This record gives sequence, C-alpha cells and structure tokens, in this order.
Amino acid sequence: MYIPGLPQLFLIAATAVGVSIAKPANLAPHASTFTNPILWEDYPDLDVFRVGDVFYYSSSTFAFSPGAPVLKSYDLVNWTPVSHSIPTLNFGNKYNLNSATDRAYVKGVWASTLRYRESNDMFYWLGCIENSKTYIWTSSGSGAGKSNGEVPPENWNWKPSGTINTCYYDCGLLIDTDDTMYVAYGNTKIQVAQLSKDGTSQVKSQQVYTPPDNTYIEGSRMYKINNTYYILVTHPASAEYVLKSKSPFGPYERKTLVDSIAGPLPNAGYSHQGGIVDTKDGKWYYVAFMDSYPSGRIPVAAPLTWTSDGWPQLVTDSNKAWRTTYPVPVQTSKTVPPPTGVDRFEGKELSHEWEWNHNPDTTKWTLLPNGGGLELQTATVTNDLFTARNTLTHRIIGPKSHGTFRLDISSMRDGDRAGAVLFRDIAAYIGIHKSSSAAQIVMVDHLSLSSTWSTNSTGTIAATGPTLPADAKEVYLRIQADITPAFSGTTVKRTATFWYSIDGNRWTQVGGGFQLSNDWTFFTGYRYGIFNFATKGFGGKVIVRSFEMELV
Ligand SMILES: *[C@@H]1O[C@H](CO)[C@@H](O)[C@H](O)[C@H]1NC(C)=O
Ligand SMILES: *[C@@H]1O[C@H](CO)[C@@H](O)[C@H](O)[C@H]1NC(C)=O
Repeated sequence: MYIPGLPQLFLIAATAVGVSIAKPANLAPHASTFTNPILWEDYPDLDVFRVGDVFYYSSSTFAFSPGAPVLKSYDLVNWTPVSHSIPTLNFGNKYNLNSATDRAYVKGVWASTLRYRESNDMFYWLGCIENSKTYIWTSSGSGAGKSNGEVPPENWNWKPSGTINTCYYDCGLLIDTDDTMYVAYGNTKIQVAQLSKDGTSQVKSQQVYTPPDNTYIEGSRMYKINNTYYILVTHPASAEYVLKSKSPFGPYERKTLVDSIAGPLPNAGYSHQGGIVDTKDGKWYYVAFMDSYPSGRIPVAAPLTWTSDGWPQLVTDSNKAWRTTYPVPVQTSKTVPPPTGVDRFEGKELSHEWEWNHNPDTTKWTLLPNGGGLELQTATVTNDLFTARNTLTHRIIGPKSHGTFRLDISSMRDGDRAGAVLFRDIAAYIGIHKSSSAAQIVMVDHLSLSSTWSTNSTGTIAATGPTLPADAKEVYLRIQADITPAFSGTTVKRTATFWYSIDGNRWTQVGGGFQLSNDWTFFTGYRYGIFNFATKGFGGKVIVRSFEMELV
C-alpha cells in the first residue's frame, strides 16, 4: 500500500489481533520532494502567510471550540497546530450546545483571515459569523517579528477585540507596506474595506470588482506584491481567479490561475480556494484545499511562476494537471511534531489537536494532575449525542488510520453512555452503555442530523459486544477509518470499523463496517471523538488515559 506524503518505512499492517504500533518519529524533513496532500486532515478555507522563518495557517471550524486553529510549519509541508484564535466561541448562547433546539451546527467560523502586524506585534483574526457581524480577535505581545516568526506557546494571548457591523464574508486581510489594513470580502461583488489604525473599525468600504458575466466568486485573499495589489477569489468548487490592480480599490483586471484542473488525488474535487505565500528566498506557492469527502477539505500545495507582466501561474505536469509531487519549498533542519502518535493528556492544557463539539461546560472536564488523564464528567442528561455537551473531537489523518482511546470506566453511573464516536452528521460509535449491574459494550450506528441540523436519529444499536462486570475498570476503544476521497464522480463508499480491547493487545471488532457519508453539506469531515453523557442523572465520569492515532 502506498501512502502519499509519508515515508513508506513507517507503514504498518493492521490485523484484527495484536496490532503493533510503529511511530513516524518525523516526517522526513530532509526529503527533496513532498507529496500532496501536504497534511491529510480537514483544515479548510486556509489562510497561509509567513513571518520570518515560520509559515502560519488559519482554518475554519464552524461550531467546534476552540475555533480557528493556527498551524505552523518551517517548510510549508509539515504542519502542526500551535494555537486557536478563538479560545471560546463568543458568537451567542447557542454555541454552548444548550439543547436540542438551541445549538449551532454548521454555523460559526467560516472562511476567515489571520495576519501578523509587525508595527504593533499583533496577530489579527477576522471573520464574519452567520452572515451578520464581523468578529475580531487579536493576540498581542507574541514577539514574532523580533524572533524570526517564532511564538512561544505561552505568548499566544487571544482576546476578543470587538465587532464590525458589516459582514466581511469570506474575508482576506492585507496589512500594506505603509501599515494600512485592508480587507477584501464578499461574494460575486467583491468589496475592499479600509480599517482604522487600530484595525478594529471600518474607515470606508468600496465595491472593487464584479465579474462581467456574474460568475459566482468568493473566498477573497488579498496581497501586495511589487507595489501591485492582488485579490485571489474562488469560483466554487473548481476555479481560482487572480484580480490585479495598482490600487487597493481597483480597478482590477482578472486572469485564471486554475480552472477544473485534474488532481492531485482521484475521486476528489478540484483544488481551489487557496492563497499564496513566498519563501524567504523569494519562491512562491499556491496552497489550496481539495474537497475530499469523507475526509473534508484537505490542503495541497504547488509552486508558482510569474509572467513578466506580474500574473502568477501554477506549475503543472505536461497534461496541465496538478502534480502529486513537487520539490520541497524550504530545506531546513527545523521540524514540527507529526500529526500521529500518543496523547496522554499530561500537559496543563489540551493540545491544539483537540476541539470540542460547541463550547464545553468547563465545570465538567479537567486534566488530572500528574498526567492522570482527561476526566470527563457527564455534562448533559439526554439520549442524543448531538445534544450532549463535551464531546471532544480530533481530526482523522488519511487515507487510513485508527484512533484508540484508553478509557477508565469505573466511575460511570447507571444510564451513562461513553465511547469513541466517528463524529459527523451521520455518525456511529463504539461505547459503553452502563447500568447498575453491568457495562455493556455496544456499537451504535446511523446517528444522524437532518438537512437543517436538528437531530434526525439518535442511532440504533447495531451490535453488542461482551457485558463487562459493573466494576470493570478499563477498556480500549478503537475506530479504524478509511477516509480516502470518494466524493466526485463515484458512488464508492468508504468504511470504518469499531473495535475494543481489554488489555490493549487483543482486539475484537464489534458490528460490521459502517459506511461513511460523502456528502459535503455538513462541511466538516469525519472526526474521531470521545463522549460521555448521562441518560438518567449526573455524577458519573470517565477518565481518558490516552489517545493514539496511527496510520494503518
Ligand atoms: C518583483 O520585482 C522584482 C524586480 O523587478 C522581480 O525580480 C520579481 O520577480 C518580482 N516578483 C514578482 C512576484 O513578480
Ligand atoms: C433519518 O433517520 C432515519 C432512521 O435512521 C434514516 O432512515 C434517514 O435516512 C435519516 N434521514 C437523514 C436526513 O439522515
């Protein structure tokens, strides 16, 4: 089996019994070529930029919390999440997942923007929420400008910095060479706003471009390169156009960067809605996302060349297709941690790989001292996982991986349900249904949300595993998922399977394969998740000792 983007040495074969774990210690930082996708995880609507030696990447997260992750990279290929611009979603009460009718699935953080402003050492995040206001979050005092782009973890310092009463739909921030802040935004009618000196209010806004043929465009990213202003816009879900002008307010000319070009993966959509970024030595790259359901939208990169009159062009193969491999943009000995491996929840905070389903109830979870693990108390009495608070989710690495939770279930109470969920609008889980006399292992499938994101089904018990004694202490729960794209021009369905183990060595599958949905309308791809909710009353808890994600 060939897995793009990874040294093949590290691949392991999964067997039903006695899976051995090999760890990719690092992702070949000295390789001369890279393979698309650059990170096979769902990080859509990317905004990529560079500060010194460090590339940064902001992404949209809908109603997951914390929102708007910030990833970093030294080579534009290996990425790791280092922060979230929105520690707690401050867009209204429904982001707390209050009830079956008061919640925010698919709302929240859509395409938004992040930039570093050197003059005041501040990162600015801006995003329009629910087609209404634009929210601003800032992080000051990072020191990034003076330290080649590096931000020590303790220097991220995100604060809400107000709202602007205009929806900067799909916005892209530019901090000009004279420090003026501009935001390009809108769909079809592209606008540019100029912000006040502190970047928290609007000075003026002007329509700068409307396609003569009214082609639907959105996803603005704004740049100034060689005294010329550029706005990249996408025509979903196939094309990227470049708008170019000598003034931020236009008039803009338009050329096509990509339009329905093949690759780089089969059964995926066209790569589009990206941005451009340069290396320190002046090479330019286009980083875009590829619709890759059931994975979601995953990043791909390709080099650019420039015409003599200042238009970027994508480097493609001889068939004008996106290449699967290109030379690595930056050769560096600096590395970031790999996306796979074990998390034992030993830190003072959750790692930025994790996001809750909506804002969590912070009184109902804690990281135990001395690396004791993650304690999840039941936070909602419900029979509906989509209404239960404090489900913690983790992006799935593709194309095939498993996620394994080691769980202490000894403090579950009668009626509690805890488990490992393959989380999306059509979901399935392996878990424990606890009664006063036993801990029943179950596989539940076809939990579903309707097309308006109300709960359509709380799921059906598809299979049962053994009944553990009521005082059972530990169980390992594993989901193995194939999220290879099956989105475009195919009716292929990918499958996940559900496993448990008592000792962490011998694994037993419960239920059959669960077919993943290739639909895009929920936007977020499948995630691994851990949940614990009550159907009868509060007081129960589980402790998550570890989570391990490995390619298989
Ligand atoms: C910017 O201008 C310089 C000098 O003319 C040129 O070498 C460089 O290629 C230009 N860069 C871009 C991205 O057009
Ligand atoms: C709603 O749930 C039923 C029962 O599981 C299922 O047959 C149907 O396809 C679901 N509808 C949606 C929109 O998910």
